[in-house]
Amino acid sequence: MASAPKTNHQVTLIPGDGIGPEITDAMREVVEATGVGIDWHVVEAGAKVMDKEGTPLPEYVLDSIRETGIAIKGPVTTPVGSGFRSVNVALRKTFDLYSCVRPCLSMPGDGSRYEGVDLVVVRENTEDLYAGIEYDVDTPEVRELAEMVARTGAGEIREGSAVSLKPISRFCSERIVRYAFDYARANGRHKVCAVHKANIMKCSDGLFLHTAQKVAEDYPDIEFETRIVDATCMGLVMDPHDFDVIVLPNLYGDIVSDLCAGLIGGLGLAPGANIGADCAIFEATHGSAPDIAGKDIANPTAEILSAAMMLDHLGETAAADSIREAVRATLAEGETVTGDIKRALSGSPKGCVGTKAYGQAVARRVAAGR
Ligand code: NAI
Repeated sequence: MASAPKTNHQVTLIPGDGIGPEITDAMREVVEATGVGIDWHVVEAGAKVMDKEGTPLPEYVLDSIRETGIAIKGPVTTPVGSGFRSVNVALRKTFDLYSCVRPCLSMPGDGSRYEGVDLVVVRENTEDLYAGIEYDVDTPEVRELAEMVARTGAGEIREGSAVSLKPISRFCSERIVRYAFDYARANGRHKVCAVHKANIMKCSDGLFLHTAQKVAEDYPDIEFETRIVDATCMGLVMDPHDFDVIVLPNLYGDIVSDLCAGLIGGLGLAPGANIGADCAIFEATHGSAPDIAGKDIANPTAEILSAAMMLDHLGETAAADSIREAVRATLAEGETVTGDIKRALSGSPKGCVGTKAYGQAVARRVAAGR
């Protein structure tokens, strides 16, 4: 009897803005070269739809993700200091995508100062200073907070202050640290390092640290260590090979992710996934790079490697491996690479190719390997 035809995976695609449309086009071409059947549900978010829809994150985008359970997105610009709140943060909160996983793996020819880096940043994605609980300068709320702080003898909030709250919960700390340990076990990794600043923030970071120490007791097969965030940054720059899985609260995770991207050739090479219990959204670590948008010069590798993570998540591991192999081979050959890589290798972008041509070169390698 003939086997039933394989049904296509349903995936929501948010191209985003800035370099988003260029890098997601390249990503899509590479994924399609694997032959894995995907129905793309393309929806727009961000400033592009703000005028028309009155919101940067229309309900139909959320509905599409609810339906597919899987999305891949390009970066979305967030206005600085004022304007609408981050679409990225809103998506993470709406779908409770509590774990942000960012592997940092050296590739031959990536132009980095380091070789052999192989670590994974696991960032808590829902609370901390990213919770978006803020009180503006000269508001009654800040005055009320200042009174409470003075009354309880905790300190002083100076007149004319704005305040952002940093909630860290036992629940979210436990689930992210557990995720990091489970990830380590499932991926043959040997060590988890929990990062904090509990010497100063004894309550919030203290809770994260103590929770991590308690969770670690359930994983005697995985080595566990703790480090203070500033010392972690120095340690990463001095010897990144000393790290394996790093688990951090939200803000430190954001900053350390970019630092780690710098260890493997820059933001153009660092993929990522936001994972929750019912849904996952894949995206590069970098932002919308308005300085290079629309010029066909962005490096789409981070987005392409994010798609490989998505294929792993969908159970299409052979296709995911073929993409990683094609990226590795293309970078190692060093001919058909984007300007950021050429510049890192030789000091000049001379001889580089554009976003589209690089994507096509990777796609050709993927197709040739089928
Ligand atoms: P960015 O990551 O967009 O750019 C930082 C630097 O890296 C720029 O010089 C840029 O040209 C370069 N760069 C980034 N991606 C690159 C790539 N693929 N190839 C080559 N060079 C690349 O960070 P920035 O400028 O701080 O943020 C710009 C906007 O992106 C902001 O509105 C920010 O809020 C947003 N953003 C969005 C994210 C998301 O959608 N997940 C994540 C981070 C920032």
